[in-house]
Amino acid sequence: MNYNNIINDFSNGITTITINRPSKLNALNRETIYELHSALKLSETDSNTKVIIITGDGEKAFVAGADISEFAHFDLEQGASLSKEGQDLLFNLVENLTTPVIAAINGFALGGGLELALSAHFRVASENARMGLPETSLGLIPGYGGTQRLTQIVGKGRALELIMTGSMIDAKRALDYGLVNYVVPLNQLLITCTELAEKIMSNSPVAISAAIKAVNAHHFDGVNGFQVEISEFGKCFETEDFKEGTTAFLEKRKAKFTGK
Ligand code: COA
Repeated sequence: MNYNNIINDFSNGITTITINRPSKLNALNRETIYELHSALKLSETDSNTKVIIITGDGEKAFVAGADISEFAHFDLEQGASLSKEGQDLLFNLVENLTTPVIAAINGFALGGGLELALSAHFRVASENARMGLPETSLGLIPGYGGTQRLTQIVGKGRALELIMTGSMIDAKRALDYGLVNYVVPLNQLLITCTELAEKIMSNSPVAISAAIKAVNAHHFDGVNGFQVEISEFGKCFETEDFKEGTTAFLEKRKAKFTGK
């Protein structure tokens, strides 16, 4: 499929989606959100894709936010539907993909950019990365899930400080906060993400999907995460991967998972 704002690469089980609007610091306009939605849906149904890496083109920005020029004239209804449509099409989709998603933060991750990274299953940043939710400086609040996911990941005090000050933090501070799992030199960013993806790919894809569902259940109102864990745990026992994993362990050999 041809895209105008993203580049979709596949290699050795990993689909890397690169947001590619460098002249606008990879800001998320509507078309980019639709393209990301389409590429992610395709990757999810492609049985060859075991891990998805999302990154930004160039050395300056992961994503510098939602495209401000597209919503500067919006009213209440348009604002609310911008937020809902974005959450439905992209941010909730990423969080709930059953294929693991790693955000490779290669520069500015601001507003919708940080919210996209927060939707991923975990994050790795380059040393030059800068992160923040500057929406209050525009008279807004984060609308793509940032008030919820940043709070879940770094805690209420740190989330509210970042949101109320609109300040950026550097990669080292993000690591201290647990916002990113690793900080590496920019030229090592995709290499590190690939190494992590390879470790993930050595494990059972069905078990990994079940783990994502169970961990995410923690965040949903009215859902008992322990109950989801029990149910997903039970379902694992019916999979070929479970038989293969336990048999390989007992036979002292490396498991060969099929994802079934
Ligand atoms: N929406 C639309 N365009 C954006 C953008 C965004 N979120 N972020 C950057 N751009 C555009 C700029 O308008 C500029 O375009 P132009 O060359 O046509 O004027 C281009 O990207 C380069 O940005 P510029 O501001 O010149 O780069 P800089 O190095 O001086 O500053 C930032 C970098 C990230 C600090 C600055 O671009 C910025 O503050 N961006 C907005 C961040 C934000 O508020 N995001 C939340 C949105 S809800």
